[in-house]
Amino acid sequence: MAKFLVQKSGPLSGEVTISGSKNAVLPILAATLLTKEECVIKDVPALRDVDVMCRLLNSLGAEVDLDFDSNTVKVKASSELNSEAPYDLVKMMRASILVLGALLIRQGHALIHLPGGCAIGERPIELHLKGLRALGATIDEKLLSHGIVDARADKLVGSDIYLDFPSVGATEVIMMAASLAEGTTVIENAAQEPEIVDLATFLNKMGARIKGAGTDTVKIEGVSEFKGVSHHVIPDRIEAGTFMVAAAITGGQVLIKNMVPNHLKAVIAKLRECGIEITMEDDGVVVKGNPETLVSTDIKTLPYPGFPTDMQSPFMALLTIAKGPSVVIETVFENRFMHVGEFNRMGANIKTEGKAAIIPGNKQLQGAQVVATDLRAGAAVVLAGLVAEGTTEVSQIYHIDRGYENFTEKLRSLGANIMRIEE
Ligand code: UD1
Repeated sequence: MAKFLVQKSGPLSGEVTISGSKNAVLPILAATLLTKEECVIKDVPALRDVDVMCRLLNSLGAEVDLDFDSNTVKVKASSELNSEAPYDLVKMMRASILVLGALLIRQGHALIHLPGGCAIGERPIELHLKGLRALGATIDEKLLSHGIVDARADKLVGSDIYLDFPSVGATEVIMMAASLAEGTTVIENAAQEPEIVDLATFLNKMGARIKGAGTDTVKIEGVSEFKGVSHHVIPDRIEAGTFMVAAAITGGQVLIKNMVPNHLKAVIAKLRECGIEITMEDDGVVVKGNPETLVSTDIKTLPYPGFPTDMQSPFMALLTIAKGPSVVIETVFENRFMHVGEFNRMGANIKTEGKAAIIPGNKQLQGAQVVATDLRAGAAVVLAGLVAEGTTEVSQIYHIDRGYENFTEKLRSLGANIMRIEE
C-alpha cells in the first residue's frame, strides 16, 4: 500500500495550475451515454474516479478512449447498452449511480447495486429515486430493500419535482433523465453547484433545453434526441481551495492558475477572515499567508453557495494552528469528522459534539502516523503535515488518488517536502 511521507516545509511559493473538476466530469461522462454519437471531453483530470467511470461506461457497452496524457476522453455509445452496472465497479465509487438516468432513457431499464464510495455517513439516494418515479419510472421495492436499484420505464414524462434537500447527485440524475423525457420538468430546491451548471451546459450543447441551472429552480423541456459534442470541463474548485489553504497554512505565497474565484466565494471570504491576503490577478489568484496574523474563524458547511463540505477538513487543518478557538459545524453530511481523530494524533486537541467540532487553535502540530479517512480528509492531513514538527506518515492514500491529480508533484513544485512511498 502506498503512503505519503510529509515533512515540515517552509512557506510554499510559486504557481500551480488547477486541473479539471472531478465532480463536473463524472456526471458529464455519465451523460455521454445519452447519445449514440461520439462525445469528446477535454480537461479531464487523471484520477482514479475518472478511470472507474470510464471502465463503467465501457462495461455498459460504450467505446471509451481515455487518454490521461492529453486529459481527453472520447465516448461513443452507438450500440445497445447493458442495463446492469457491474457491482465490482459500482462499489468503488458512489458516483456510479449517475448512470441511472441515462440507462433508463437508453434501455428503459437500469439495474445498479447501491454503491460505496467515501465513508462519510449515510449516503441515501431516495431523492434520485423520487425524481425518477415522478417521471414515470417504477422501482422494484423488494430489491431496493436489499440494496439493489431495479428501475424500469417504457417512457419518461416530464413532471414537477421538489427535492427535500438540494442533492447534487439527485439534481444531476433527474436533469439527465428529464432532458429526453416527454414534456416539461421543473426541479424545485435543486442543487446550485457550479458542477450542475457545467452539466447543463454540456446537455444543452447536446440538444437539451435546460434553463435555470445554478439557481434553485431548474426547468427542462424534453427533446427527442441528442447529438455528440465536444466539451471542456470547468476547473476543480475544491482542488483550488485545497491549494489556497496550502499557501495559507505554510505562510507562503502562491499564484493559483485556472481557478474560477466566483466558484469559491465562501472559501475566499473565510480565508480573508483568517487574515489571509487574496488578490485577483490577470493570470490567477494570489494567496498570501502570514503566521503572525493568522486568526481563527467559525465555519458552517452548507449547499452551494454556502461553504463547501468538501473544504471542511482542509480548512480545519488551518484552524488548528490559527490564533484563537473556532467552531466548525457540518450540516451537509452526518459523519464527516473522521479526520478529527487524525488531527488529534498530531496534537490538535479538537472535540466534537454532534454536528460541531470545537478547535482550540494555537497549536504546534507534531508529525504522526495518520490515515486518509476519506478523499478530502486525506488532503487535510497532508496540509497539517506541512506545518507539523517531524514526519507525518499518511496511509490509505488511495482516497487522495481518487480526487487530486498529481497531488505530490504539484505540492513539491511549490516547495513542499512530500514523498510517495510504494510499499
Ligand atoms: C456530491 C459530490 C461530493 C460533495 C457532495 C456535497 C460528486 C461526485 N460528489 O456528492 O464531493 O461532498 O456533492 O456537496 O459530485 N441526501 C439525501 N438523500 C438523497 C441524496 C442525498 O438525504 O437521496 C443527502 C446525503 O445523505 C448527504 C447530502 O444529501 O447528507 C448531500 O448529498 P448529495 O448532494 O447528493 O451529494 P453527492 O451528489 O453524493
